[in-house]
Amino acid sequence: MSKIVIVMPAYNEAENIGKMIEALFNEEFPKIKDTEMHLLVVDDYSPDKTGDVVKTYQQKYKNLHLLQKQKEGLGWAYIRGFQYAVNTLQADAVMEMDADFQHPPRFVKPMVEAYLLGADYCIGSRYIKGGSVPKEWAFFRKAISFLGNLFIRIVLTKFKIHDLTTGFRLTREKGVLDQIDLDHLMEPTRFAYKVDLLYQSIKLSKKTVEVPLEFASRTMEKSKFNPKEMVSTFKVAVILGIKDKQKLIKFGTVGFVGYLINAFFLNFFSKSGFPEWASWGLSTELAIINNFTLNNLWTFKTDEIKGIGNIVKKFLQFNFTSLGALLIQTVLGTIGVYFLGPDKRQLLLPFIIVFVVLPYNYLMYTKVIWKKK
Ligand code: GDD
Ligand code: MN
Repeated sequence: MSKIVIVMPAYNEAENIGKMIEALFNEEFPKIKDTEMHLLVVDDYSPDKTGDVVKTYQQKYKNLHLLQKQKEGLGWAYIRGFQYAVNTLQADAVMEMDADFQHPPRFVKPMVEAYLLGADYCIGSRYIKGGSVPKEWAFFRKAISFLGNLFIRIVLTKFKIHDLTTGFRLTREKGVLDQIDLDHLMEPTRFAYKVDLLYQSIKLSKKTVEVPLEFASRTMEKSKFNPKEMVSTFKVAVILGIKDKQKLIKFGTVGFVGYLINAFFLNFFSKSGFPEWASWGLSTELAIINNFTLNNLWTFKTDEIKGIGNIVKKFLQFNFTSLGALLIQTVLGTIGVYFLGPDKRQLLLPFIIVFVVLPYNYLMYTKVIWKKK
């Protein structure tokens, strides 16, 4: 049976936490089948004695846990909570959830169900059908939340996911959380930790699903989110976005050098009297050798293929996937020259490369050749 631990940071939530514990243990957990549900409250020794409230409930609920530590901000509360959930409680999955009822307890069940159906990463989403932000929110606040999300979706080019800043998520331990270096997240003292965590989790997760979340308004106390948190959240998104594109930029540069080699030898071979198909074929193979070498040493440096045996094996594999490109270029090139005439040869090549070969190559390189272990 899967063990799921809800990690719930709580700072000065004495008024909320008792009600939350009762709602989860009395109403929600009993409805959830086939899992062992636990709640771990992470309290930074709140002055309002949030921790003491939890302690009184611990006698009643054996799956209720409390982690107390110095105040270091929201990111660290989650990080230490995750580590405790995994190392001490042996969790199979962890959930991020707020203590203030803005994540209504009834949404825990659909998240767990998505996990049981095989999801590695479940995102409680306010911006998909069935999800919402509080009606009471002023137009301005709604706009900030929506546009902020849109901005992050654009810089991270994650259009398939609609809510990138939600604080309600479920993460599988095996294959996702256990692959993340939690001690070195960006901005761990802030709310921005969640962008880095999301970015890495999406990459690692084989199956990510969004589950609708009706985000409620806060009834008691006030939010700890502020403009400073917002700026740092955007900053993290932009840095990750650029890092992400770096590979693409290098890949493009290598592809361009490959193109120059391709063009030079295409001209050279056809001038030397080689048949049309051989000129295209040979010059393309030279570009392939260039691309393999430069991509291995530069673009995919972090996943560099090392050792003669490995390099030979991967180079053969690279040629095999490049066979697709070779075939595409040779066929499209020959057909193109047949219809447009040999004077259009040099115009045809970049056209085929940009629209067909590059997208094909990038897919093959990232998904096959330099696939992350
Ligand atoms: N232990 C600990 N330490 N808990 C904290 C700290 C801290 O430094 N700061 C906040 N928390 C707890 C709060 O007690 C609450 O349970 C939860 O973290 C979220 O804090 P809020 O202050 O209620 O944040 P919010 O409602 O503004 O932000 C929510 O919505 C955002 C998106 O709109 C959160 O869900 C965010 O995670 C989310 O990004
Ligand atoms: Mn809140």
